[in-house]
Amino acid sequence: MKLFDTKPKTDPDFLYGREKELELLAQYLGQKDWVILLGPRRIGKTSLAKCAITRLGCKSLLIDARDTTNFEEALISSLKEYQSSLNIKAEVKVPHIPVNLGVNYNRRLSSHTLDAVLKRISRLIILIDEAQWLHNPRRVNMLLAYLYDTYYDKITFIITGSMIGVMKSIVDPGAKSPLYGRAMTKMEIKRWSSSTSIGFLKAGSKEIGLDMDDKTGVAIEGKLDGLPGWLTLFGYNYNHTKNPDTAMAETVKEAKKVVSEELGSIENLGIDTERPIIILKALAKVPSRFSELLDLTGFGNAVLSRHLDTLERLGYVEKDKVGEYFISDPILAAYIKEG
Ligand SMILES: Nc1ncnc2c1ncn2[C@@H]1O[C@H](COP(=O)(O)OP(=O)(O)OP(=O)(O)O)[C@@H](O)[C@H]1O
Ligand SMILES: [Mg+2]
Repeated sequence: MKLFDTKPKTDPDFLYGREKELELLAQYLGQKDWVILLGPRRIGKTSLAKCAITRLGCKSLLIDARDTTNFEEALISSLKEYQSSLNIKAEVKVPHIPVNLGVNYNRRLSSHTLDAVLKRISRLIILIDEAQWLHNPRRVNMLLAYLYDTYYDKITFIITGSMIGVMKSIVDPGAKSPLYGRAMTKMEIKRWSSSTSIGFLKAGSKEIGLDMDDKTGVAIEGKLDGLPGWLTLFGYNYNHTKNPDTAMAETVKEAKKVVSEELGSIENLGIDTERPIIILKALAKVPSRFSELLDLTGFGNAVLSRHLDTLERLGYVEKDKVGEYFISDPILAAYIKEG
């Protein structure tokens, strides 16, 4: 089972319906552009990034921003690991990271660490996954700007995330940002169309020797929308249960559990979920504009704006072209509606 494998895809042969995106991303990376992949949860950002790296046959490193509070340390320790995997013997010291980053920042950091590794490697792609969780945007941006200026030929970054917080300062650096003037290519990863979603269900079912007629495909797509993550989970369950209805029930149950655990873990991060959930409840009924949400929630401007930011950062809420906010994920919407 390849298409319905629930891990992020790494083999382009099993990356369904993203031919254009894959070709474009590989082309950008091939010409050493730094690329930012934007999109909601479970849309396939990590899969696309990994498949493009495979396609290029380039050496790569992954840094998951959810696992780290300090980007510099995470970068250095991944580079150290990478270096030992290459059997490079040179000593790499973890630097003393200055508290006040000033003009010495580059020299102090590079002389101790990055230079030591980077001198010895050939081309490397570094994937920063879920960059909206990076702390301390200014430091991150400074380090990225330094790498851009010094190692552009050797290192190419792919950065994934949703368009908020740190991401915003990377995607759209203001004149005062260290990243200002350095070109980054933005790619937005969209939902699958209905026909792509149904095509995926059919192709995946065929692979596991099961039927998927049009009617069933349409019904599943209608419930799970064009979200590759949930469609893949359905496929995984279909493979086990051999029955689309049971698989669908199982998928909705598991997906709600995933969503509920995510909301729990957000609370554990110390993020207030009470007010975001009030916003989600309003949006689960009907997509709304900011001004409408002010009325629906009774929140003030600043409070609403802060919690909407959080929801966008989590990839749960998006804003459409006419300025209405909506819940990106039908499962999350159903879960919230049930209370
Ligand atoms: N184009 C695709 N073809 C086949 N499967 C896919 C595709 N895109 C995503 N998937 C599957 O969907 C699930 C989610 O994919 P992935 O982890 O890449 O998404 P993501 O946007 O990085 O999600 P998250 O927000 O959880 O980080 C995985 O099970 C993956 O295998
Ligand atoms: Mg991901």
